[in-house]
Amino acid sequence: MKTLDIGFIGCGGVFNKRHYPTLKRLPRYRIVACCDTNRIKLDKLERDYGIKSTFTDYRDMLQKVPMDIAAVSSPVTTHTQIAMDILDAGLHLFLEKPATFTIEECDRLIEKAKSSPGKLIIGYNKRYMPNIRKAKQALERGELGQIEAVQFLFSTGHRVAELPDWRKERALGGGSFIEESCHILDFWNWYSDKPFNRVCSATSRLGGCDDNPVAFMAENQDGALFQALVSDTLPDQNRFTILGKDKVMRLYTHQFDGFEIQPRGVYDGDLKQRLQNGVKFIRYLPQIGTLWKVGGVYHLSYYYMWKNFHEAITNNVPVLNSLEETRNVQILIKALVDSADQNKWIEINRY
Ligand SMILES: NC(=O)c1ccc[n+]([C@@H]2O[C@H](COP(=O)([O-])OP(=O)(O)OC[C@H]3O[C@@H](n4cnc5c(N)ncnc54)[C@H](O)[C@@H]3O)[C@@H](O)[C@H]2O)c1
Repeated sequence: MKTLDIGFIGCGGVFNKRHYPTLKRLPRYRIVACCDTNRIKLDKLERDYGIKSTFTDYRDMLQKVPMDIAAVSSPVTTHTQIAMDILDAGLHLFLEKPATFTIEECDRLIEKAKSSPGKLIIGYNKRYMPNIRKAKQALERGELGQIEAVQFLFSTGHRVAELPDWRKERALGGGSFIEESCHILDFWNWYSDKPFNRVCSATSRLGGCDDNPVAFMAENQDGALFQALVSDTLPDQNRFTILGKDKVMRLYTHQFDGFEIQPRGVYDGDLKQRLQNGVKFIRYLPQIGTLWKVGGVYHLSYYYMWKNFHEAITNNVPVLNSLEETRNVQILIKALVDSADQNKWIEINRY
């Protein structure tokens, strides 16, 4: 199998916690260089991971180090210029979510990508989670009947003190509309061919962080209502409930056995259902060893995402997302922010 060489730009939290451990387990990749504007972080990478080729300016890295892929995991306000330069260099591009800071930047990137030979993937890793994929298949089969309402509870459980400064300020790309709601908006766009018509949101400043938590409602073309509570610092929660005309789907995205579909009329906590879940849990147990090896369900999504990107580059297999799709996410993020600022429902077709 062909080994692909990667240069990483932005080596902070997600690089150290997610990308580096995942890529270490995938021999089809080799990290050949790293760039970060913070020299202290680079010195640590040299010491801890033995990465010898490090740069504080990504342009130097792109010029001096031969590589197949350049990966961007710096703050979102820096994404567009870096991504444009990578595509200009004719490299494949891994770009962390949310792809860009503004809709206009996304448009420029779409234009640039059209004339670039490189493949492109956006780091919406949740699309690669097994439960999220199972849910998509069930929805495509129409298993729930027409979707009537959806509830999302999504918080990442960070302590305020451990968040980098930019993640606390909306103007710098932080806050839960931009940083976290984008995941929900992305996979709902992926799940459904019924786009949101309008959205309405509210924001708070828990822990002194902009847009933390945020709450929003959305309505789709069929009049189905969506309700979401999203935060960077409330305790970890990943629960989605999708209520269809015939059945209800419960999704705990980070839990290996967290996928269930119940017929309408069965109570939450029904004894028979709980026993069936117990049996399901026992059936999953043999897989725990394999999951442990890749670092759990959350890491598994990165593992599948990077595997998919390798197949896209070497065998022309499609990746699970595109810049065009991500443009819709950028529109929805902007609409949520505008709704909170203007204190009213925002029609999506105005963008
Ligand atoms: N897919 C996910 O679930 C997930 C999770 C966390 C973060 N992210 C995304 O990853 C990106 C980074 O997030 P993070 O939490 O790792 O942030 P971070 O602040 O911990 O790391 C970003 C790093 O980029 C460096 N940097 C800033 N400007 C730079 C530049 N111009 N060139 C090179 N390096 C630069 C900073 O010094 C820092 O080390 C964001 O887009 C974020 O949304 C995705």
